Amino acid sequence: MKPYYLDYASTTPIDKRVLSEMIPYLKERYHNPSSMHLSAIANKKAINEAREKVARAIGATPKEILFTSGGTEAINFAIKGFALKHPNKKVIITTAIEHKATLKTVAFLETLGYQAIYLSADKEGFIDLEELNNHLNEDTLMVSIVYANNEIGTVQDVEAIIRMCHEKKIVVHLDAVQAFGQIPIDVKALDVDLMTLSSHKFYGPKGVGALYVKTGIELEPIIHGGSHENNLRAGTENLSGIIGMGKAAELVIAELASIQKHYRELQADFHARMIETFPDVKLIGAPLGEKRSFNHLSYSFTGIKGHELHYQLAKLGISVSTGSACSANEITPSHVVQAIHLEEERQPCVIRITFGKYSKLKDHPQIIRLFQKAITELKA
Ligand SMILES: Cc1ncc(COP(=O)(O)O)c(C=O)c1O
Repeated sequence: MKPYYLDYASTTPIDKRVLSEMIPYLKERYHNPSSMHLSAIANKKAINEAREKVARAIGATPKEILFTSGGTEAINFAIKGFALKHPNKKVIITTAIEHKATLKTVAFLETLGYQAIYLSADKEGFIDLEELNNHLNEDTLMVSIVYANNEIGTVQDVEAIIRMCHEKKIVVHLDAVQAFGQIPIDVKALDVDLMTLSSHKFYGPKGVGALYVKTGIELEPIIHGGSHENNLRAGTENLSGIIGMGKAAELVIAELASIQKHYRELQADFHARMIETFPDVKLIGAPLGEKRSFNHLSYSFTGIKGHELHYQLAKLGISVSTGSACSANEITPSHVVQAIHLEEERQPCVIRITFGKYSKLKDHPQIIRLFQKAITELKA
């Protein structure tokens, strides 16, 4: 059975060029970057080169990049770290369609006495800028928004959001985990304050991410220990992971134009085939175009459950997702499809298909045939 991987938003395979840069740091270059001997100092230098690569990829300066254990930790650090450093303000604004890393971080802060405002989203997954504006005031601590939604692919108008927040001097954190590697991001042009990246979403290794912290923005550390990462994030560095993330960031930016072109072709072709083959299928989230992730399609069906289709497809060698992979074992409709008010009967029938640079257009006819087989079997 030939496997077809259509779950790149969940994670990407590592690029071979990234892996080969990492291997020496797992073997002979194992030295602790905090030690003072020569090999260790060379490793510290290698970390700072990786930091430069990540910084360059988003238009930041190296000292504005802090390495973390991934997107989840970077989000926790951005929100908790900023909240703890600025205890005089207690209102956090976010949206009802965030990744769980944001929602649970904010919910945790609510247990400590913070107040959370969850902005609503329309049927396509866009937040209402007027609603945001109405909530911004002197009590607002910060705004945290997902740039490109992992479940429905909607890309928010982050320029307008940041402009609006800055008019009232309110700090913005962007969860750019799904956006980076698809959309060119220049943190200086955007003027964003805090931004989260995760390496395994752009052909780098898992378990490493970064938080961009604009010069002048102060955070309280949330992981205590040694003086790593400029005294802000303790713990011996994930040396090979950081080297890999640096290389992955460098490659994805160098190849962004061709990646975008490939994603768009895959997306347009697959979508055309889906709507032609399954008349009852409904695209969820923003329409194809600039306001949707280029590698992302999410559909709802009628009369079949998303998790059953997911399982049936898996038996035929196709990997998709029923929403956020992090909540894949929950069979209740995801918080995102509920928040965008998808018709109730369609809510449990959602699947997500995401492409990547190793996806092949020529596989689409066979994948669609396997979808037909899976759906026919489920409806039988
Ligand atoms: C939008 C978004 N934010 C945050 C995360 C968490 O990132 P990580 O897997 O690196 O912890 C994910 C992962 O799926 C995501 O899609």
